Amino acid sequence: MIELRDVSKTFNTKHSTVRALKDVSLTIEDGEIFGIIGLSGAGKSTLIRCINLLERPDSGSVIVNGDDLMKFSPAQIREKRKDIGMIFQHFNLFRSRTIAENIAFPLQHRGYTKEQIDDRVTELLELVGLESKINGYPSQLSGGQKQRVGIARSLATNPKILLCDEATSALDPKTTLSILALLKDLNKKLNLTIVIVTHEMNIIKSICNEVAVMEAGEVIETDEVFNIFANPKHKITKDFIATTSNLNKIYDLLAENSIVTTLKPGETLAHFSYSGPSVVEALISTISAMFDIRLNIIFADLDIILDMPMGGLILIISGSKENQKKAFDYVRERGVKVEIIKSYD
Ligand SMILES: Nc1ncnc2c1ncn2[C@@H]1O[C@H](COP(=O)(O)OP(=O)(O)OP(=O)(O)O)[C@@H](O)[C@H]1O
Ligand SMILES: [Mg+2]
Repeated sequence: MIELRDVSKTFNTKHSTVRALKDVSLTIEDGEIFGIIGLSGAGKSTLIRCINLLERPDSGSVIVNGDDLMKFSPAQIREKRKDIGMIFQHFNLFRSRTIAENIAFPLQHRGYTKEQIDDRVTELLELVGLESKINGYPSQLSGGQKQRVGIARSLATNPKILLCDEATSALDPKTTLSILALLKDLNKKLNLTIVIVTHEMNIIKSICNEVAVMEAGEVIETDEVFNIFANPKHKITKDFIATTSNLNKIYDLLAENSIVTTLKPGETLAHFSYSGPSVVEALISTISAMFDIRLNIIFADLDIILDMPMGGLILIISGSKENQKKAFDYVRERGVKVEIIKSYD
């Protein structure tokens, strides 16, 4: 388990003082894939670097598997870092060393024999699917392959924790998916706790089970990913979620005064959203019949987050306003969120 308690960090430069972390507290359980999301400058990298003390907080505690690292000597910290692997956006490989030498690097000067190191390197290359590249150099690899080498190197000392700072930001979407799949696989196979820093909500959605949202040096919201999507509290969280859904096209259409969003008298433009085992599609025909209203679906979006359905519909509803209101109350009672985007009375 990783516990950060009241961690603060201020950077002083000649011209400015930046409070990069303000009393941040966070608990990351073993075996989790924990996401940290925030805009540029929010303090994500500073926070993740505090977990292995690459960045030393000014105050607070960093407790990793029961050890308060702030009380450790430099030698003890170095030893502890064996348990905490890290990968980076730009891979940070040694260009003049072979793939095998890169991966073996963390094992050097730790008393292993050459055979032990060779065996471990082979094992790690198999784990990340790069057996054939053992004698190549980083310059001969694609970005995705370089990150696989980065992952293999970070796992050389058998860490329980892997820290990933924007590990897929330099990769194309397809390669990103393959690296995320590899991370998920390693999380399962090795019961590896993975901490992922990103500014992409799609990454959080596709592999994390818990997420912390950061803004200006603070963790403003943290919960299971499903709960965050179902019930975001802060504006910035809602904005991040909006980037993962096509329903927001409606706001562009509204801004453009598109014909699609032009309402006739009595019509309402609404957003229905639901999460969990809800049956909104069946509800649509039920309320149509029950309240004598018509519902036109403009956009629909259904997603599965950690095996739970989550969806949304943008609808134009017509029929008497009184009946529309009754219909909205009816679906709200059944767990559907109703947001009126625009109404023509
Ligand atoms: N070594 C440093 N010296 C001075 N200021 C720093 C240093 N490292 C970070 N900062 C400042 O601290 C704040 C948080 O930086 P940090 O790198 O943690 O943000 P981030 O969320 O990782 O951003 P990005 O998404 O751009 O990587 C920023 O204002 C940054 O300029
Ligand atoms: Mg960063």
